[in-house]
Amino acid sequence: MALKIVETCLRDGHQSLLATRLTTKEILEVASDLDQAGYYALEVWGGATFDACLRFLNEDPWERLRLIRKACPNTKLQMLFRGQNILGYRHYADDIVDQFVRLSLHNGIDIIRVFDALNDVRNLRQAVTSTRKYGGHCQIALSYTTSPVHTVQYYVDLAKEVEHMGADSLCIKDMAGVLLPDDAYQLITTLKANTTLPINLHSHATAGMMDVTYMKAIEAGVDMIDTALSPLSGGTSQPTTEAFCYLLKGHIEDPKLHIAALDHAAEKLTKIKDRYLQNGTLNPKALTPNPNILKYQVPGGMLSNLMSQLKDQNAMDRYEAVLKEVPIVRQELGYPPLVTPLSQMVGTQAVMNVMSGERYKLVPKEVKEYLLGLYGKSPAPVEPWILEKIIAGQTPIEHRPADDLKPEFAGLKAKYGDLIRSDEDVLSIALFEKVALAFLEKKYHPEPQDTTDEFNVYIGGDSK
Ligand code: CO
Repeated sequence: MALKIVETCLRDGHQSLLATRLTTKEILEVASDLDQAGYYALEVWGGATFDACLRFLNEDPWERLRLIRKACPNTKLQMLFRGQNILGYRHYADDIVDQFVRLSLHNGIDIIRVFDALNDVRNLRQAVTSTRKYGGHCQIALSYTTSPVHTVQYYVDLAKEVEHMGADSLCIKDMAGVLLPDDAYQLITTLKANTTLPINLHSHATAGMMDVTYMKAIEAGVDMIDTALSPLSGGTSQPTTEAFCYLLKGHIEDPKLHIAALDHAAEKLTKIKDRYLQNGTLNPKALTPNPNILKYQVPGGMLSNLMSQLKDQNAMDRYEAVLKEVPIVRQELGYPPLVTPLSQMVGTQAVMNVMSGERYKLVPKEVKEYLLGLYGKSPAPVEPWILEKIIAGQTPIEHRPADDLKPEFAGLKAKYGDLIRSDEDVLSIALFEKVALAFLEKKYHPEPQDTTDEFNVYIGGDSK
């Protein structure tokens, strides 16, 4: 059967290479070409794009979604949804998750790809239930990582569980780009034998070997792959869409995309990309293969983060020591996958352990909350001495973290009744209160523009 392609340049592509800075105008320059290309789906929304619209671009993310929907009537639109974290960085109440799913689908999303950093399925349940309730396609993504507990059997058990929960398809989400070709082959073959769900592979080209992994995944019968159009592919982004069209030409798996439409979009996207290269948003380093991520099993974004933390403290000489500390901290904390927000926690803890001269002398608040169960269940048990040292006397919660959260939607709607004009506005506030309030203020109550000067100049010019 023909391989299905999910195009990611308008979500992960610019999130990984351009700090998520593509504007809606730039996106719309290529959207209709992509819509003509015959993709299975376009991932265009969710992840960091929502935050970036409000925080950096002074744009309404909901408006962006509606405009993309209008420009792409022929192709399914997909979003990335962080389970109970939605598109933010904390756990939100179930009613916020429910409304967010409802309005994402209402404004144009077809496929919701939902995942939890810890693969704690309790953190997926509400998003899955709501997606089914409102008629969307629910794809559950399993965070892929390597550790003694993250075996093929672990992923098979998880796949069976999410199939039972009601997923329509499954994604292997290798956010760090560490999935090796033979491991992909074994994982996908075994998953195929144990579930009837279609399987999608998502990874990153960071280490320079991902095309080979994708080919092995195709051999193993993967149903969909995530790729990015050439200008925003490679390096820390996804492998290249066009490359797979040529690689598979004439093959039974030929995705049969319209190359002319791809070329047309790529030409425009190249011009856009060149502007970001010139203004420094795109660092050429992000495009260079970085095999160190395989050596240290640390995502590229985390490596550069650690480097900048150490530079700030004038301690680049401790870089190797910190990199050695990362896997030890990760093991002691029960092998969390190194994805947001766990990658930041493990990284900061490793830096603190090395810099303070005494391990766990300093512990960030987020790590304490993780140990208290507030992010969900760790994949393996946390070392008992860590619990004793850091949260002695406190009992970690055993239940789902969001069970402790009261409904928030009606309260926010009432509180900001004077400002908001839609339920979408309420959700923007629910996720990023301060940032969204500042944005909505500007949107609905713009500073009166003083146009008299312009008018005078105009009259003056005319009269001379
Ligand atoms: Co990704």
